[in-house]
Order: sequence, then structure tokens, then C-alpha cells
Amino acid sequence: MRRLEGKVAIVTGAGTGIGEAIAHKFAKEGAKVVVNGFSYDPVDDVVASIKEYGGEAVACCGDVSEEKDALKCIQTAIDQYDKLDILVNNAGVFLATAETQDYPIDVFDQTLKMNLRSAFVMTKYALPYLQRTKGNIVCAGSEAGFNGLAQNTPYGGTKGWMHSFVKGVAVEQAKYGVRANCYCPGAIDTAWTHKETGPMDAEMEKMLIEATPMARRGTPEEIANVCAFLASDEASYVTGALWLADGGVTVAKGSVGQQTPQQLRQQPQGELRLDHSKEGLANKQTQTIK
Ligand SMILES: NC(=O)c1ccc[n+]([C@@H]2O[C@H](COP(=O)([O-])OP(=O)(O)OC[C@H]3O[C@@H](n4cnc5c(N)ncnc54)[C@H](O)[C@@H]3O)[C@@H](O)[C@H]2O)c1
Repeated sequence: MRRLEGKVAIVTGAGTGIGEAIAHKFAKEGAKVVVNGFSYDPVDDVVASIKEYGGEAVACCGDVSEEKDALKCIQTAIDQYDKLDILVNNAGVFLATAETQDYPIDVFDQTLKMNLRSAFVMTKYALPYLQRTKGNIVCAGSEAGFNGLAQNTPYGGTKGWMHSFVKGVAVEQAKYGVRANCYCPGAIDTAWTHKETGPMDAEMEKMLIEATPMARRGTPEEIANVCAFLASDEASYVTGALWLADGGVTVAKGSVGQQTPQQLRQQPQGELRLDHSKEGLANKQTQTIK
């Protein structure tokens, strides 16, 4: 089943992690994909591996929180593929863990720019094209937008903003035939949730697994599966949804993950070849402040 056959999609932050998986999933479902990321992200490599199995993709590097780069990505979709059906606002950062009194103001500013401004600017410029195709927007929310996230309160705040933003866009744009939804992951197996590749320490890592009833991280592909559904015509009556894919953490209380046996903690194998799942923070400065 090719659920996105003939659709044209932009996926921001698609060189690594969840975005890489979404780009592959969409290409496998028949979409033509504009793959965005910073110029130092492995965007070209994602495009090349999509093309290896006959998928259609083009790279568009740049910082989508900047108007000129956001416009360039949208123009790339129009120039290459003549239209835009789907915008995935996936780009985001998780740069520091620190209690709020110690949280650096420059990291706060950067987090808001990367997580909020990028989604707003891309949405603003994409909407006229999405209105023409009766397309849709899918954004990266998070369980951290529902639950209190200690030691990165600004990040949790950006996801609460994203949830409200998407609900507003959904209400406002329905009259143009445009839908807008969020996928809301729990702890996903990317750079962010490992002490070796991001600012979480061993204790945070342990807590996030214990608080999750399924007692494991989700895979980028498990999130891409939800995103593909939301972006597809199968979700034609879904708008303004905050779609949790979080192993149950949002509805849980306490360390329930401890009860889940090891054999049920295995991640599914998946079908996508993902080479850059844990490289999202490789070229970024991160901080663990205690
Ligand atoms: N990993 C998790 O546990 C988790 C949980 C909930 C939500 N999310 C959300 O999922 C999304 C992807 O997270 P991930 O874990 O795959 O992280 P990641 O770091 O692997 O991927 C994010 C990508 O976006 C790029 N990016 C960031 N800002 C950009 C900008 N302004 N312009 C262009 N590219 C930009 C980064 O360079 C990176 O390649 C984020 O929005 C995040 O908030 C992740």
C-alpha cells in the first residue's frame, strides 16, 4: 500500500533521528520528499539512500527558522515537483539539561528559535500552497508538552506551544481544507535520550525508561509510522489532534516500567534503513549543568 502516492512533502530536520525516518517512510509510501536539515547534517546521504531504492527526494539545506531558508525549501518543492501537499515541522533541538535557575539564557533563546520560530515561519509560508492542494501539516509535539519535564523546562515549554499552535492552525485552516496535527513522542531512540550523545545524564535516562509502561525507547520508525498516517488521506477526518506515541508514559504514574519483563522491552525490528538515528547533536554544543 502506497498511502502517499503522488504527494509532495517537506520534512524539516530530516538528516537525522525521527526526521530521517519520516523522510524514508514518506518516500516508501510514494511521496516526493524535500529533505531539509542544516548544511552539516547528513541530508545528502538521506537523499542518496532514498534514491537507492527508487524513491524521489531532493535536499534543501538551511536553517528553517530563518525566512530565506524556509522560503528556499518551499520553493524547492514547487520548482522540483510543482506543488506542496504536506509540511512536516520536525526540526528541533534539545541542547541542555539544567534546573531553571541555572539554565543559560542563550540556550533558552536558541531553543525557542529552533523549536518555535522554525515551525511558525515554515507554516506561514507553506499555507498558501497547502490551501491550493487541500494539504496538511504535521508537527513534532511531545509528551513533554503534556507532562512537566524537569531539567529542560524551556524545551517542554516549546512543545506546549507547538500543541497550542497546531490546534489553532487546525481550527483556522479547516475552511481552506487544510488539516494540522501533532505526533507526540515519548523517549525516542535518538541522540537526545542517550548520555553518550546528548545532555541527559545516567539518572535522567534511567528515569525516563522506568516512567514508561512499555519500559523502552520508541524507535524513530515507530514515530514515522504515526506521522505517515496523519499526513495521509486515511486521516481525512483528523485535525487538531495531539497523537501520543509514547509507550504510555503520559497516562502513567510512578515507576511502572519496572514491572515490564525484559522480553517485552525489545524494540520492533522495523523496515527502514536508518544510518543517522543518533547523530542529531553531533555538531551542536550541548551542556549538562548540575
Ligand atoms: N527524541 C525524542 O525523545 C523526542 C521526544 C519527543 C519529541 N521529539 C521531537 O522530535 C523531533 C526530532 O527529534 P530527534 O530526536 O529526531 O532529534 P535529532 O536531533 O536527531 O533531529 C532533529 C534535526 O533537526 C535539525 N534541525 C534543528 N533545528 C533546525 C533548523 N532550524 N533548521 C534545519 N534543521 C534543524 C537538527 O540538526 C537535527 O538533524 C524534535 O522536534 C523533537 O522535539 C523527540
